[in-house]
Amino acid sequence: MRAIAISAFGARPELVELPQPVPGPGELLVRLRAAAYNPVDTKIASGAMKGLSPRFPLIMGQDGAGVVESVGAEVTAYRPGDEVYGRFSHPARGLGGYAEYGVVAQDGPVARMPKGLLPEQAAAVPTASATACALVETAGLAEGQTVLIVGATGGVGQAATQLAALRRAYVIATAAPDAEDLMRDLGANETVDHTRGDVPEQVLAAWPGGIDAVFDLATPADAADAMAGVLRPGGVICSVVHALNPDALAARGLRGVNVINRVTPEVLTRLAELIDGGELRVRVESLVPLEGAPAALRDIAAGHARGKTVITI
Ligand SMILES: NC(=O)c1ccc[n+]([C@@H]2O[C@H](COP(=O)([O-])OP(=O)(O)OC[C@H]3O[C@@H](n4cnc5c(N)ncnc54)[C@H](OP(=O)(O)O)[C@@H]3O)[C@@H](O)[C@H]2O)c1
Repeated sequence: MRAIAISAFGARPELVELPQPVPGPGELLVRLRAAAYNPVDTKIASGAMKGLSPRFPLIMGQDGAGVVESVGAEVTAYRPGDEVYGRFSHPARGLGGYAEYGVVAQDGPVARMPKGLLPEQAAAVPTASATACALVETAGLAEGQTVLIVGATGGVGQAATQLAALRRAYVIATAAPDAEDLMRDLGANETVDHTRGDVPEQVLAAWPGGIDAVFDLATPADAADAMAGVLRPGGVICSVVHALNPDALAARGLRGVNVINRVTPEVLTRLAELIDGGELRVRVESLVPLEGAPAALRDIAAGHARGKTVITI
């Protein structure tokens, strides 16, 4: 099968021919039709994720969508022909999502595809939207609360903006001028331009008493303390880039949580319901054919996402 793989940490991703994986007991073999890019894909490929001992060549990617081709022994929940979406990475087996075929355990990070979506839209959902769910849940965001979302214009941020708005929170989204209308359309009540000046200063100027919550998808550890300064006493800040020192924040009367997503069948099923109900939209910014992925990954490193990049297979 064709796949995008690296031969070592730091090596250039390449289109290669690799053996089709064989599903083990309890696993599905999925003919992937699309795979989504997530920043963690390039972090893994660079060797930046500590404690990972993959088998090389390592197929890149996590998220994908496609059709069940065959099932291993003891699979009862799915059968060939079912359309599914989820995460297909198994670094220890050299497997990932940027490939014609992927495997996933039937009780692993997989669920039936949202009915109204094409595979190239469904593939864009798992990691980004599940992370957004984790943020809203961890913060316990409630109706009427005010939340600042830093990095709101990317994959996680667009989903978090919509899920926060669904809870009837008041959403302040960071957005460069080109993305202001987009973020309001997704449910942001106001935007703050992080390219124009200091975000905490701008927020505190408008909200001198502080706000209830921050979802931070972008601020590094050395600036996280200042970002937490926008919170009212007892407020909560959640970081997905592991920038927080929860003990230091607790000493300031604040709650700080470094959030790690959990992509479960339950979360994926819930996301599919929200999508089918028209309550969560997925914005695919660009489609790239599998053979174009190595070049596209080089461009993506510059950042500035306004939605998801999806690889069609
Ligand atoms: N912990 C977890 O489980 C978990 C899960 C998913 C993702 N993540 C991490 O979360 C981060 C975001 O992921 P993503 O998929 O949403 O990325 P993405 O789709 O690439 O989007 C990143 C967005 O952040 C904006 N941005 C960058 N620097 C900013 C700043 N200083 N202030 C405000 N906005 C800024 C960019 O817009 P501009 O061009 O306007 O700057 C861009 O729209 C990544 O580091 C990823 O690895 C962690």
